[in-house]
Amino acid sequence: MPVVVDPKSETIEELLPTVPAGAHAIDQMDRLAAWLDNRPEEYVVVLGPHVEQADATALADGMRLTRPSTSVILVREEVDAQTLREAMHAGIRDVVAINDPQSIKAAVDRAYQLYVALRGPGGAMHQGRIVTVFSPKGGVGKTTVSVNLALALADRGARKVCLVDLDLAFGDVAITLQLFPSHTIEHAIGSEDAIDAPLLETLLTRHGDSVMVLAAPNHPDVRERVTPMLVSRVLKGLRESFDYIVVDTAPAFDEQTLTALDETDECVIIATLDVPTLKNVKVALETLEMLDIARDHRHLLLNRADDNVGLGAERVESILGMPVASMVTTSMDIAAATNAGQPLMSQNPQHAFSATLREFSSRLTGEPAAPASAAGRPQTAEEAEKSGRRFRRKK
Ligand SMILES: Nc1ncnc2c1ncn2[C@@H]1O[C@H](COP(=O)(O)OP(=O)(O)O)[C@@H](O)[C@H]1O
Ligand SMILES: [Mg+2]
Repeated sequence: MPVVVDPKSETIEELLPTVPAGAHAIDQMDRLAAWLDNRPEEYVVVLGPHVEQADATALADGMRLTRPSTSVILVREEVDAQTLREAMHAGIRDVVAINDPQSIKAAVDRAYQLYVALRGPGGAMHQGRIVTVFSPKGGVGKTTVSVNLALALADRGARKVCLVDLDLAFGDVAITLQLFPSHTIEHAIGSEDAIDAPLLETLLTRHGDSVMVLAAPNHPDVRERVTPMLVSRVLKGLRESFDYIVVDTAPAFDEQTLTALDETDECVIIATLDVPTLKNVKVALETLEMLDIARDHRHLLLNRADDNVGLGAERVESILGMPVASMVTTSMDIAAATNAGQPLMSQNPQHAFSATLREFSSRLTGEPAAPASAAGRPQTAEEAEKSGRRFRRKK
């Protein structure tokens, strides 16, 4: 995903449409270094016209040898010979004028081609993204969302997805999917230093043909022996083999969850319309902010959003100080699917819940939502209208 830097928010707004969806915006050069440190797979940095020329050349000069596959593109109000000369010396790949969006787009495309050529398609340094589903409360739908989101991200095999059950004491991903894993994360205890792709493969259980599952231990007391180091190595290892790693969590900031949150690229926070949950979600959001976890990559999902309990989405947004990214209504079908061990996403891809989570997943990937399974019944006009009315888009 490209990263766009400019201190002026209006300029960022102007630049974002010229780069692929899902780009990350940063307003200060000194935050860029930290961002890049965690993202070896970044292919382009677009520096806006309000970034000082000296800062831009210093950045490009530093990156020329340390990360040659990441291009720096400089956007200026005007492109003159002096700027071009300085840029060229520093190793800036392209200098383009802000009033020429086509050229910015073309420069970003060239950066991507260079990245692919240097890394090889799929990349020797493949880095999957970690999506953590978190809530400080139990029973709010973390597991339901994790399972169905993993299936949506997998898009019937188009992406490689691993679902990790980090609710280590009471995890129920396996039972929700009717799986009987022979191995779980427990079998990696003691092998922290030897975690590699072949070892990880032996720990996984296949669900259908699109999702692999790393199940939670069978006994709650094993949790204490799953060290943060083990969690971190497992997640880092999975990044190399999978496009997306969806992490279901326990309703607490235990050390394993905190480790996962530290590795997280996209954090999905689940809330429901009740005051105790909202109070705890607010505290959790403050903690995420304090720990600088997934800043600008937190997504609030409101479950049971239609419950008529005197609180609505607007109120939730004002209490939590963040927009609701997606809303799921209460449906007996969701609970029935859990009990049947058959996720709604596979059982009924046309269901409004499945459609909502596919739309949500497309926001995480920055790619268009996949249509419902070709084998399924097409959505009726009435259903389409209903789901459009019930589920809002992010503001
Ligand atoms: N929107 C919904 N409508 C109806 N039932 C739901 C909904 N979301 C979750 N559930 C049910 O609530 C129960 C708890 O959900 P779960 O995902 O296990 O929560 P958590 O993982 O946060 O503890 C499950 O039986 C699930 O099927
Ligand atoms: Mg759960």
